[in-house]
Amino acid sequence: MGTTTLLQQLDALTTEIVDQVPLENLIPQIGTSGLGFETGYCKAGEEHYRFLYHISNWFNNETIFEMGTGQGGSALCLAQNSTNTIITYDVENRFCIAKPDNVECSFTDYLTDPRLLTASLIFFDIGEHDGVLEKQLYDFLVVNNYKGMTVWDDIHLTDGCKEFWNSVTKTKRDITTLGHASGTGVIIFE
Ligand SMILES: C[S@@+](CC[C@H](N)C(=O)[O-])C[C@H]1O[C@@H](n2cnc3c(N)ncnc32)[C@H](O)[C@@H]1O
Repeated sequence: MGTTTLLQQLDALTTEIVDQVPLENLIPQIGTSGLGFETGYCKAGEEHYRFLYHISNWFNNETIFEMGTGQGGSALCLAQNSTNTIITYDVENRFCIAKPDNVECSFTDYLTDPRLLTASLIFFDIGEHDGVLEKQLYDFLVVNNYKGMTVWDDIHLTDGCKEFWNSVTKTKRDITTLGHASGTGVIIFE
């Protein structure tokens, strides 16, 4: 799917559609991790899990990149279309749920992975959220003429993140009402 179509799909997405995502189906895989995928939890505008699960089906036979694996909840949601390959980066292994076969965990510097620029979707969720690593990745994607869709967590959390988000000149949407309460942004690199 091209970036224009992705933007149209994004603009048509509603909280009602996101809240229909059957997150509770993943409970057997999250076990006792405490991620809270029970019915009624992680609604659109509270957490980004249903949104990520939903958009995983906008991509087929594609590479999806994630920065900030954490316990693996977002990787699990992004992996719901099994035709896609999820490459998820962290600095330490905190993955504590059943790992789907189409998820690969990595622990080196994501900017050195040549597959990054081939990813159709990139989800950035690194815990520091001071805007520095966000800006570094954004600039890297601009300089390298990246084409695709990117999702950024916590864009309203800190002054650094707000400054980063306000500085973005590419096509962008604040989709916090569909994602995480601390701010979710989408930047389309056309
Ligand atoms: C908020 S958690 C990720 C949560 C996960 N995306 C989710 O929604 O379920 C942030 C993660 O970023 C990781 N992290 C911090 N610095 C990093 C770096 N330089 N590269 C990759 N991951 C990093 C932390 O170890 C932590 O596990």
